Amino acid sequence: MTKRIGILTSGGDCSGLNAAIRAITVHAIEHYGWEVFGILKGTSGLIRRPMEYVSLTLKNCDSSMLRSAGTILESTTKENPFFFPGDDGSKADRSDDAIIGYQDLNLDAIIAIGGDGSMRINSRLAKKGGMNLVCIPKTIDNDLAQTDYSIGYHTAITVATEAMDRLQPTAASHQRVMILEVMGRDAGHIALASGIAGGTDVILVPEIPYKIESICEHIKNINKAGRNFALITVSEAIKTENGEQVVRGKSINERPRYGGVSQYLSSEIESRLNADTRFTVLGHVQRGGQPTAQDRILATVFGVKAVDMVAEQDFGKMVAWRNNQVEAVPIDSSIDTYNGVDPNGVLIKTAKAMGIYVGEI
Ligand code: F6P
Repeated sequence: MTKRIGILTSGGDCSGLNAAIRAITVHAIEHYGWEVFGILKGTSGLIRRPMEYVSLTLKNCDSSMLRSAGTILESTTKENPFFFPGDDGSKADRSDDAIIGYQDLNLDAIIAIGGDGSMRINSRLAKKGGMNLVCIPKTIDNDLAQTDYSIGYHTAITVATEAMDRLQPTAASHQRVMILEVMGRDAGHIALASGIAGGTDVILVPEIPYKIESICEHIKNINKAGRNFALITVSEAIKTENGEQVVRGKSINERPRYGGVSQYLSSEIESRLNADTRFTVLGHVQRGGQPTAQDRILATVFGVKAVDMVAEQDFGKMVAWRNNQVEAVPIDSSIDTYNGVDPNGVLIKTAKAMGIYVGEI
C-alpha cells in the first residue's frame, strides 16, 4: 500500500543530515513507491499555517546531497512545540497544531533526525498525537546512548583533527604551547578522539578532573626531552581547576552556551611556565565541512533502516549502530541514559599509553 511519510531535522545541524534525507527518500521511492515530504524547520513546519513542507523526489535528492553539509530542510533549536514562541515573545503549547498538521498532510509516519533534546520532544509529541515515529540519531557530541555513533561525529572529529594539523607547525615554529578548544557539550568524545588523532600532549575532557600543575609538569618534561612546543586539546565544558563552569550565557532552551575555557587555561599555563601560549576556539566549523565517508555511509545505512522500520510498523524506535550492525532500539532507552567518555575505556587507556596527560594525578 502506498504510504506518505514525512522527514524532519531538528536541533543543532551537523554534516551528514542531507545524506540521511537522500537515503530515506531514495529507498522509500525506489523500493516501496511511497510519497515523501520534507517538513521544514523541525516540527515548526507542521505548526505554521500554511504548513511549511516540500515534496522530496529522486530529482531533488540526488547524490550531491551526500557531499553537502547543513540540512536542506533547515532546523531550529528555538521552537519547541510545547513552548512555541509567539511574535510577541510569549510561549504557547502548539503541540495540537503539530498533530493536526500531521493528520492534514495525511502522513503515515515521520522520520525525525535529531539529538537527545529533539528526540525527547518528538517522542512526547508522537505519544500525545498517536503519530508514528522513527528517529535517526545525529549529534557531533556523540553523547546518545544505545548507538556507537551518531551522524555528524566523524566529520566533527575530522575537522578538529585537521585544525590540529594546522596548529602544530606554527606551534613548532614559534616554540609555543597551542591549545585547541573543541565542542561536545558535557561529553569529551570530540576532544579525546581528535586529540589522539592529532597527536596532542594533553587532552582534557569534562568527565575527568585535571590539575594545572600536572599539565605544567608534563610540558616541562616534554621540554626537557628536547621538544620545545606542546599541543593541548580541551573540551568546551571542562571546568576551571576550582570547579567553575565557563559559559557565554544560556541558549534559548536554557542549556548553557559553552566556550572560552581555553582562554583561562592559556593564561594559567603562560603565567606558571612563562611559556608563549595561544588558544583557538574552533566553534561551529565542527558542524560543517564535507561529510566524511564514514558519516555518509552511516547516514545512508540509518536512512534505509528507518524506512524499513516504517514498512514493518516498528514505531517508537531509533535506529542505532552497534557492533557493526544496524538495529532498532526504543527511543526512551536512548534518551534516558547519557553516553559520556568512559574514564576506563579503550581511548583513555590508549591516550595514557601514548604518554598523553588526560587528567588527574
Ligand atoms: O550539541 C551540538 C553542539 O554543537 C555542541 O557541541 C555545542 O555546545 C552546541 O551545540 C552549540 O549550540 P549552538 O549552535 O546553539 O550555539
